[in-house]
Amino acid sequence: MPKLGVNIDHVATLRQARRELFPDPVDAAAACEKAGAESIVCHLRKDRRHINDNDLIRLRMSVKTRLNLEMSTVDEIVKIALKVGPDQATLVPEKRQELTTEGGLDVVRYKRKVSGVIKKLHEKGIVVSLFIDPKRQQIKTSKEVGADYIELHTGTYANVRTKSKCRSELKRIRESALYAHKIGLGVNAGHGLDYQNVKDIARIPVIEELNIGFSIVAEAVFSGLGPAVKRMRGLIR
Ligand code: PXP
Repeated sequence: MPKLGVNIDHVATLRQARRELFPDPVDAAAACEKAGAESIVCHLRKDRRHINDNDLIRLRMSVKTRLNLEMSTVDEIVKIALKVGPDQATLVPEKRQELTTEGGLDVVRYKRKVSGVIKKLHEKGIVVSLFIDPKRQQIKTSKEVGADYIELHTGTYANVRTKSKCRSELKRIRESALYAHKIGLGVNAGHGLDYQNVKDIARIPVIEELNIGFSIVAEAVFSGLGPAVKRMRGLIR
């Protein structure tokens, strides 16, 4: 049964829409944990469009479960990660203009860079996950560079509109998860998961954690954050 990691970036997105001090992502993280979230996820982007440096420091001090920092491999962000010391770092690609993370990290292409960043994070005792597309070569290379986990990008699965495409994407994710597990990687998954599409992913036996943000924060507008987290956790379980 996978655990639920809640990404609270979009609580900060709402705050930044008015450059206000509320809603506070730190309060949101506490509400998520109280409702059963097993980790808190946030992404410190280069443009600081939602989570900022101070949020990250406050989250480090307040999160009681595990803090999973999504981050690019640029030196500035790596330096911050090493200083703040999240429990886990999830390396993601980052493009300035994108609305959200598009596609997985190309570990094959950036093997040396990724390997160097992993080494530095490991020296600080930080568990490292790589956010990758469900492709065999990316998985194999993730193992070679020393990652502890991969997070399979479920965005394509979440966006398909026909049943047959959905089935084939699900199969691709399932086979990727089983292969990664077989070669000794921990397996997480996330991106675009919602109350409709999460169950089939949650059934894949080797997946340890699902990281979900947008759909939970969107649902929270209607039901409150605690109930939104509880409902998602119920579906996963
Ligand atoms: N996992 C990773 C690596 C991500 O970059 C994101 C988006 O920040 C998520 C999970 C959560 O995606 P969503 O907000 O679509 O649930």
